[in-house]
Amino acid sequence: MFYEVVIPAAGQGKRMKAGKNKLFIELSGIPIIVYTLRVFEEDPDCRGIILSINPAEKVYFNQLIAAYGLKKVKKLVMGGKERQQSVYNGLHHAKEDIVLVHDGARPFITLGQISELTTAASLHGGAVIAVPVKDTIKKAANKKVLETVERSSLWAVQTPQAFRVSILKSAYEQAEAEEFLGTDDASLLERINEQVVIIEGNYDNIKITTQEDLYFAEAILHKQQHGKR
Ligand code: CTP
Ligand code: MG
Repeated sequence: MFYEVVIPAAGQGKRMKAGKNKLFIELSGIPIIVYTLRVFEEDPDCRGIILSINPAEKVYFNQLIAAYGLKKVKKLVMGGKERQQSVYNGLHHAKEDIVLVHDGARPFITLGQISELTTAASLHGGAVIAVPVKDTIKKAANKKVLETVERSSLWAVQTPQAFRVSILKSAYEQAEAEEFLGTDDASLLERINEQVVIIEGNYDNIKITTQEDLYFAEAILHKQQHGKR
């Protein structure tokens, strides 16, 4: 199923504490964002990449696109203060019926998962990649436990998230009008009662967030490149 992808890449990477946008950190000599972009470069179903960036980093992004011969980035848009604003700015340029939103900081998504996701989005309106929660989750107030949440119903949600473009645009417009700030894209559909389904993903699809994630990322990369499971 053909689609376009909006990739928010305009964050500051504060939790990484690298003093720069974490997406420029290299894994085995190649910047994280290049791995993410390459997934979509290699997907024949991907009709174009809309990349949301910090304008101060525009020259560097353009250098990377040229240096790695990336062909599908059709638009660089200005990111916003929050991720939601960065995605919204990109969404204005989406024209295909199906649009994906995928974090620049998740370089390990696979084409098989993207394909399952786009098919589900066209059937149901919205679809997210998620994995069953492994830890026991407790609810607490001031570090006093209130309850243990039933784990069998909990999913840790990742990106990509895929949508029929008309539904996502209208969910974003309504969130914007009502000044609702969600923690992911699908939550904007949930609040207007649009259906979102889960596609079970893979624990390798980490979001590179803190320093220790770089060690995990190198290990996942090694596994992908050497075909081990
Ligand atoms: N992002 C964005 N615009 C923002 C904030 C985040 O485009 N205003 C992007 C990031 O570049 C990243 C993705 O959204 O690819 C997920 O965000 P996160 O992992 O939180 O990255 P950062 O915001 O950069 O990191 P931190 O929260 O630690 O500052
Ligand atoms: Mg952030």
